[in-house]
Order: sequence, then structure tokens, then C-alpha cells
Amino acid sequence: MAFRKFLFLSSLLIGLVRVRGKELPDFIRTCARDDPNLTTCMISSVEELRPYLLKGVPEYNIPSLEPLVMTDFFADEAAGMKIVVSNVSAWGCSDFFVRGLETNLDTLQFIVDVDIPKLRIEAHYHLDGKLLLVPVKGDGNLETNVTDVSARAELQGEIIEQNGSKFLTYSQVKLRVHVGGGSVRMENLFNGDKVLLSMLNDVVNRNFKVFLSELMPVIEKSLASVFQNTGNAIVEAFPFDQLFP
Ligand SMILES: *[C@@H]1O[C@H](CO)[C@@H](O)[C@H](O)[C@H]1NC(C)=O
Ligand SMILES: *[C@@H]1O[C@H](CO)[C@@H](O)[C@H](O)[C@H]1NC(C)=O
Ligand SMILES: *[C@@H]1O[C@H](CO)[C@@H](O)[C@H](O)[C@H]1NC(C)=O
Ligand SMILES: *[C@@H]1O[C@H](CO)[C@@H](O)[C@H](O)[C@H]1NC(C)=O
Repeated sequence: MAFRKFLFLSSLLIGLVRVRGKELPDFIRTCARDDPNLTTCMISSVEELRPYLLKGVPEYNIPSLEPLVMTDFFADEAAGMKIVVSNVSAWGCSDFFVRGLETNLDTLQFIVDVDIPKLRIEAHYHLDGKLLLVPVKGDGNLETNVTDVSARAELQGEIIEQNGSKFLTYSQVKLRVHVGGGSVRMENLFNGDKVLLSMLNDVVNRNFKVFLSELMPVIEKSLASVFQNTGNAIVEAFPFDQLFP
């Protein structure tokens, strides 16, 4: 009798433990694999992540998006200009709007189209070369506001097996970013020569999109790695079958 009670209790406990182990945190909304509206479900699930992305979830290594801090530094050389951008902080990412989503659970390809109305970016830059025919050399702080940002992220997933469970991981993330417009203010160029500096800021602002397109590969690369790390922090924490039951 006592033994049966023990069996009953332990199976209850094991059952409880198992359920607890399977529990997903509140911020994850799962989408059934055969949901006829898988796309709609996944968009809602991303939308519901917004408040958590805003603050970050340290227990799951999900960083805060406000500001979005990129710790890497990025060096690029384009059109005779060397540029190193470091210590980038961006504000406004959490105002994202998911415009579209394409999902293929067989090939594990995900394409997300996201709009962000406005981003304010602060960074440290080092420039050496010519920008729009003006010789430029120096370093300092850079502030830029970009408006009407639209991004398309292509995520290639892969299933890895760990401890007998299948986990999704994004092995490759490609990002294309377009911006509508904006302005930039660079400080400290030309050893503080205010006349040359205001001239350069003027030229750059009148040709903001050209200026930004020079920087875009750098921006895309850094954002792609943020996308990949954040995405992986979320999907690698839970077995695939749990995320897509
Ligand atoms: C899928 O979503 C569309 C548009 O939101 C809706 O019209 C349709 O009824 C949904 N279908 C199902 C099966 O939920
Ligand atoms: C990085 O940027 C932040 C915010 O703009 C600033 O507070 C910090 O001092 C910078 N750090 C370095 C090492 O430049
Ligand atoms: C896999 O199992 C090992 C040993 O039991 C454990 O240390 C590790 O955290 C497990 N990994 C995952 C992803 O659950
Ligand atoms: C960016 O926008 C903020 C207000 O949102 C403003 O204070 C700042 O001067 C702007 N910077 C540039 C470079 O336009």
C-alpha cells in the first residue's frame, strides 16, 4: 500500500518535473507546424516579444534592444576611404514593425521584412581618405538619425542535435537595409577646424543617402550579427519540437 502510494507520488513528481522542464517562458508563443496561418502566428509571436526585447531577458542571454549596442568594431574600405566605426549604440529598434514573413519549415529558411520608423545612432568613427572628393582624416563621435528604415533579413536555419533533442540554430543571416533619409553630425574632424567641419557636415547631409550607402555594408554586417545572436539566444534555448509543436 505504502509502496503504491510511493509509486503514485513519484510518478506525479516525475510528471511534474517533466512538465516543468517543458515549460516555455511567457514570452514565447509557439506556433503549430501545421497551422494554416503559420505566418500570422509567427508575426504575432515576434510582436509579443517586443516588450522583452526592449528590456532584454538576461536569463536567456537576450540582450536589450534599447539601446542596441554593438561591441564589435567594423572596418571597411570603399571608394578610397578607410572607415572604422566602433562603439555603436542605436535607439529606436524596438519600434520595429513586421511587414512580412516567409517561413519554410522544410528548408528552415525564414525571410523577415521589418520597418523601423526612426533610428538614432551614436558611434565612434575613424576616417581616412576622400569622401565625395573632400579629403577627410580624423576621428571622433558621430551621431546620425535615419528615418524610414526597412530591412529584409534572410535567416538560414539548421537543426543540431544535442542530448537527443533537436535544436534550431541560425547558421547564416543576410541582411539588406534601405533607409528613406536622415541626417548626420560628425564631430572633431580636421583637428577641430569649425569651418571645414561644418562644410563637411553640410556636404554629407545634402548627400546623406550616398554617404549612408558607403557605410551600409558595415551597418548590414553588424546588424546581421546582432540579428543572428538574438535569434539564436531565443531558438537555441528550446528544442525545435517545442517551438514548433
Ligand atoms: C488566416 O488568416 C487570414 C487573414 O488573416 C484569415 O482570413 C483566415 O481566416 C485565416 N485562416 C485560418 C484557417 O485561420
Ligand atoms: C561608448 O558609447 C557610449 C554611449 O554613446 C559612451 O557612454 C561610452 O563612453 C563609449 N565608450 C567608449 C569606449 O568610447
Ligand atoms: C546536455 O547534457 C549535459 C550532461 O547531462 C549537460 O551538461 C548539458 O547542459 C546538456 N545540454 C543541453 C543543451 O541541454
Ligand atoms: C537626432 O534627433 C534628435 C532628437 O530626436 C536631435 O536631438 C539630434 O540633434 C538629431 N541629430 C542629428 C544629427 O540630426
